[in-house]
Amino acid sequence: MLETTSNAEKLNVLKNETKKLNIAVLPGDGIGPEIVEQALNVTKAICLKFGHSLNYEFGIVGACAIDSAGEPYPKATHDLCMKSDAVLFGAIGDPKYDNDPSAKVRPEQGLLKMRKDLGLYANIRPVSTFPSLIHKSPLRADLVEGADFICIRELTGGMYFGRPQGRSEDGNTAYDTCIYTREEVERILHLAYKFALQRNKKVTVVDKANVLATSRLWRQIAQEIAPQYPDVETEYMFVDNAAMRIIQWPKSFDILVTENLFGDILTDEASVITGSMGMLPSASIGIYTSVFEPIHGSYPQAKGKNIANPVATILSAALMFEYAFDMKEEGGLIREAVTASLIAGVVTEDIATDGNAFKTSEVGEWIVNYISK
Ligand code: IPM
Ligand code: MN
Repeated sequence: MLETTSNAEKLNVLKNETKKLNIAVLPGDGIGPEIVEQALNVTKAICLKFGHSLNYEFGIVGACAIDSAGEPYPKATHDLCMKSDAVLFGAIGDPKYDNDPSAKVRPEQGLLKMRKDLGLYANIRPVSTFPSLIHKSPLRADLVEGADFICIRELTGGMYFGRPQGRSEDGNTAYDTCIYTREEVERILHLAYKFALQRNKKVTVVDKANVLATSRLWRQIAQEIAPQYPDVETEYMFVDNAAMRIIQWPKSFDILVTENLFGDILTDEASVITGSMGMLPSASIGIYTSVFEPIHGSYPQAKGKNIANPVATILSAALMFEYAFDMKEEGGLIREAVTASLIAGVVTEDIATDGNAFKTSEVGEWIVNYISK
């Protein structure tokens, strides 16, 4: 039997009795190990600075886990996550599986299983700009400057998990199923409203209620819940329109809440506001241990080259201090250090100008030095 202590209860214990941080570190595939190494170094530097003791243990997930253990999310990794206070995660994926649609086991199944088994129903993806990177966005500066919103993506339902999924016997027809239950929709919407209450009090519910039954359920439940939060303005938007509005008027959003697949797509799109996908962190929270991970993937072309941007993962570590450990100052210092590195121009090639690119490890070291000084 799994223990059902809620995250909140666990956190109280942690806050009141000890400042020992137990984290599981899952680097995964591709650039995962390189970027996680930097985020872990930053985590260590923060713990040293603030006098917290840090315990960390590595686990395998993704293609590397298929290679060494035969499955993408082995039980040992799950057990490690369950006994930890937070999980720092890199990325998973390997082109050898992408190019083989008939592969029975795929690295992505590991990520989905981890999300499901840890009950991570909410993926929090904050989108904001850094003044020194405004010129890196392909969008006009006046549109992106000051954009600051949070995408809350439902993470354990919808088409990613709906069954049946598969192929007809002759192989010429394929099907996925999109399913949502009232309970799943209610909990993510309440979470969205709670976030909105802490911010600018606006929730945009994104769906495709003009076509999809699941979307009509979302909208119906949102209409029931909205009056419970009279201080929050609710806006309903079809996903196609939202895709346009995100780049046309990003400043109009505060909290955007949506189902799994829409959220996956819209957050990649939203990353262009920041200037690079390598900048966007995320927190996956829910029933058991929370997972902190960059929104980008495993970027196999850059694997082992020490060129990938570690900032999304480092900012995910900031979210880890804030959300999992309720340590606002620690998270804030990481953000300050990242901002300073951007101003100093200590950045990787994706956001560098005039060929002045730094290596993954150089960016990480600069940030660690800033924190440690
Ligand atoms: C993400 C990723 C994953 C997803 C993939 C790797 C399965 O794109 O975290 O956004 O689609 O959820
Ligand atoms: Mn994605």
